[in-house]
Amino acid sequence: MFPLDFPYEIFKEAGKKGQWALDPFCGRGTTVYAGRMLGLRTIGIDSSPVAVAISQAKLANTNPRAIIREVKRILNNDSTNTHVPEGIFWEKAYHPDVLSALCKIREELLNDCESDERIALRAIVLGALHGPKQKTKQSYFSNQCQRTYAPKPVYAVNFWNKNRLEPDYVNILSIIEERANKYFNEEVVRSKGQIITGDSRDSNTFKTISKRVSWIITSPPYYGMRTYIPDQWLRLWFLGGQSTVDYSMNGQVEHASPEMFAAQLKKVWINSGAVAKKRAQMVIRFGGLNDRKADPLEILYHSLDDTGWKIDETKSAGFASQGNRQAVHINTDINSPREEYDVWATWRG
Ligand SMILES: C[S@@+](CC[C@H](N)C(=O)[O-])C[C@H]1O[C@@H](n2cnc3c(N)ncnc32)[C@H](O)[C@@H]1O
Repeated sequence: MFPLDFPYEIFKEAGKKGQWALDPFCGRGTTVYAGRMLGLRTIGIDSSPVAVAISQAKLANTNPRAIIREVKRILNNDSTNTHVPEGIFWEKAYHPDVLSALCKIREELLNDCESDERIALRAIVLGALHGPKQKTKQSYFSNQCQRTYAPKPVYAVNFWNKNRLEPDYVNILSIIEERANKYFNEEVVRSKGQIITGDSRDSNTFKTISKRVSWIITSPPYYGMRTYIPDQWLRLWFLGGQSTVDYSMNGQVEHASPEMFAAQLKKVWINSGAVAKKRAQMVIRFGGLNDRKADPLEILYHSLDDTGWKIDETKSAGFASQGNRQAVHINTDINSPREEYDVWATWRG
């Protein structure tokens, strides 16, 4: 995830209200939200359902009261026929009452997640689904877990057993309320935009985009960063996926070699160019592994060759440090962080 300031400052400096902007690897919707804050209209694409659900919430026009009303309605609805997953992982991960309430919300949202309140609620639940137990207040629904990555079942059960950690009963409603107040209380410009679930390498994914975009601000997966799907298996379950870890790479850029990786990015730049206005600006933040054979800038430059995008300049975006999840995750040696870059290009196609 790149910081909100990155797209925000670019739009603030050079964007114009009403312009359209695209992020073909939108992740948690940072570009989408930055654009919204400044009155731009934004389109995000991602192949991960988790990323799409979170990005959609960045465009929701709602407020905490409406979200709470909706979750109460769902929890009070006795007619939902709830399926609750079984097994040692689920018993240890969630208190039974919490799991049953979560399953109820899940099933209701799987049936219908059209309204902005439900879209917001879905993202709030995804954010609180797993994370550390806190001493003073309850912020997550799960037993002790990482917040960013889903627990791997066998490892997690061993860890909980060894440390005698049992899942607490937590008040789902108050956790949701606190998050709704935190994330949906601000008066943000009513949004216009679109989030597309799809593979950006495929030109069909761009078919529903009817506007020409003036901006593309994006950050592809860094070369070697291939674990978005298994890292998110529990959130994927909440979105209708299976109740076990999925190790597939469906719809994700493949990382077999730098050349193959660049060839896939190239398709994304070509597809993005096809919906770009003349002289549209593209800014790509990219970094890489501590792997001399895979120079991130070389991969990126290579991917932009013969695409219609002309590189204007490359700026350093600083060094990977704590808080910069993507780079920290792929850096095996935290003491020698790799530099990240912003590559600016203009559409001349
Ligand atoms: C570095 S993250 C983007 C982070 C984003 N800038 C943010 O601030 O949250 C890269 C994203 O690309 C997505 N992705 C990978 N391969 C893709 C593909 N072929 N098509 C669309 N999205 C893809 C991943 O699911 C991931 O969300």
